[in-house]
Amino acid sequence: MKTIDLFYEDQGTGTPIILVHGFPLSHRIWGRVARVLSQSCRVIMPDLRGMGNSPATDGDYSMRLLAEDLLRLMDRLELDRAVLAGHSMGGYVCLEFARSFKTRISGLGLVASQAAPDSPEKRIGRLASIEEVKKKKGIESIITGMLPRLSNRADLHKEIMNIMLSASLQGVIGSLQGMAERSDAREWLPEIQVPVTLIAGANDVIVPVSNAEDLAALLPDCELIVLEKSGHMPMMEQPSEIAAALLALLHRINQ
Ligand code: MLT
Repeated sequence: MKTIDLFYEDQGTGTPIILVHGFPLSHRIWGRVARVLSQSCRVIMPDLRGMGNSPATDGDYSMRLLAEDLLRLMDRLELDRAVLAGHSMGGYVCLEFARSFKTRISGLGLVASQAAPDSPEKRIGRLASIEEVKKKKGIESIITGMLPRLSNRADLHKEIMNIMLSASLQGVIGSLQGMAERSDAREWLPEIQVPVTLIAGANDVIVPVSNAEDLAALLPDCELIVLEKSGHMPMMEQPSEIAAALLALLHRINQ
């Protein structure tokens, strides 16, 4: 698969933390969190392959491929190690990164994410979505269907929709295929020795809190935070709490 240079935003100075968005979003979901975090550390926010301002390529975007894109970004920025925090699909990518590039990660944050692979029904749904966007030559129908499931905060819907509209057709197809094929990360979770913070939204209908609880039980050094007023987009629904949780993770790492 063709190598690409990811688009990214870089704010603040100090310990680097890379915030990785979910599907089919962009770095812009982290804006509110970054405003707070960047007062205490360096916040790097890439757009994943085919999303936001990053280039798209044809083919499947395996979680390994997306993790390699992040590694390439770290190399470009000359970062030996960083804290990685991923939202949902971004979390699947960060988990793959933690397995494949152990020496390059000093801590892990997972927001509304999980280690379990797709159920057979979920996989079938993703393949149907791929067919739908190919037939319609556009992503609007699937993102319109996703919107109410991402957050029940109607005041955020326009902003989330605008962010999703920046995803490319190739990026949506490649990511759906990659998520459908991803492996079961639960098998190797105990190998993750760095401190982990898990953040789950109590009202998340895409990744229920029980998935985060299952994950927490398998991690050697893990803190689980459940945010009562959040769905699947806690970084926009409760940004101060997300910033505080990630700062607490940085403190645990630097202890
Ligand atoms: C995401 O928010 O990244 C996706 O909804 C995750 C998924 O569909 O598994």
